[in-house]
Amino acid sequence: MRILILGGTGEARELAAALTAAGVDVLSSLAGRVSQPRLPAGPVRIGGFGGPAGLAAFLRDEAITGVIDATHPFAAAITASAAEAAAATGIPLLVLRRPPWPADPSWVSVPDIDAAAGAVRDWPGEGVFLTTGRRDLSAFAADDRHRFLVRAVDPPDPGTPTPKQMTLILDRGPYTVDGETALMREHGVGLLVTKNSGGPMTAAKLDAARALAVTVVMVERPPLPPLPPTAGPVSTMAEAARWVDGGGQSADG
Ligand SMILES: NC(=O)c1ccc[n+]([C@@H]2O[C@H](COP(=O)([O-])OP(=O)(O)OC[C@H]3O[C@@H](n4cnc5c(N)ncnc54)[C@H](OP(=O)(O)O)[C@@H]3O)[C@@H](O)[C@H]2O)c1
Repeated sequence: MRILILGGTGEARELAAALTAAGVDVLSSLAGRVSQPRLPAGPVRIGGFGGPAGLAAFLRDEAITGVIDATHPFAAAITASAAEAAAATGIPLLVLRRPPWPADPSWVSVPDIDAAAGAVRDWPGEGVFLTTGRRDLSAFAADDRHRFLVRAVDPPDPGTPTPKQMTLILDRGPYTVDGETALMREHGVGLLVTKNSGGPMTAAKLDAARALAVTVVMVERPPLPPLPPTAGPVSTMAEAARWVDGGGQSADG
C-alpha cells in the first residue's frame, strides 16, 4: 500500500502525520504556491503534475495504490484532475473535505469571486476586508472607490492587478475573535469577503463580523466533479484512516 495525499491544508498534514505514525507508506504533494509551506510529516514532493494525464503517469510510476485528495475546497482543478486520473488508472480515490461553515441568513451568498466583486461594487460603504487570497485580487482591481484591507499568506505576484486603495497584511492564522475584532475596528471594516473554506483556523472573523454588524459576502464552494461511490467525500480523519485500512474499497470504511 502506497498512498498519495494531495495536500496544502491542515487536514492533509494531520492525515500524513497519522498515517505515517501508523506505518503506512505515504507521499504528500504540494502545489508549491506558498513560499514557506508548512510541511507534512514524511516524504513530500512539490509542483504540478501536468494535468490529469501527468498525474495518472505519476501514479503509475510511483506505484501509488490509493490517492487521498485532501486539498482546499476551492482547489477545483486538482480535484478534477485527481478524479480523472483515478478513473483512467483504476487507482482508488478518496476526497477528504472539511465541512463548510453552516449558512447564516445574514450572509450575502455568492457563487464565485466575480460575483463577490460585484457585491462589493454595489456596497455603499468604504472599508472592505478581503480574505479570499492573493490570486483572486485582480477581480477587485477595477474598484477604486472602496478601501481594501487584504490579508494573504504571501504578497501578490508582481504585475498582478490589485485595488488602488489597498492595505496588505501578511498572515496565515489561526486567528482569534479578539484579534479579528480589533483588526476590523482599527481598519474601519464594514464588509468582509471570504470563501466558505470551513474549519476552525479562520472562523474567528465570522464571529467578529457578527459582533460588529459587519456585512459578510460569502463565496460558496465550487461543486465537486463526478466521483466514484467509494471516493466519498468524507470529512473526518477517522473515515480517511478506515478507507486506507480497507484498501480504498469503501468511503464508509
Ligand atoms: N484555492 C484556495 O483558496 C487554497 C487555499 C488554501 C490552500 N490551498 C492549497 O493550495 C494548493 C493550490 O491551490 P489552487 O487553488 O491553486 O489549486 P487548483 O486551482 O485546483 O490547481 C491548479 C493546479 O495546481 C496544481 N496543484 C494544485 N494542488 C496541487 C497539489 N496538492 N499537488 C500538486 N499539484 C497541485 C495542479 O497542476 P497540474 O495540473 O500541473 O497537476 C493544478 O492543476 C492546493 O494544494 C490547495 O490545497 C488552496
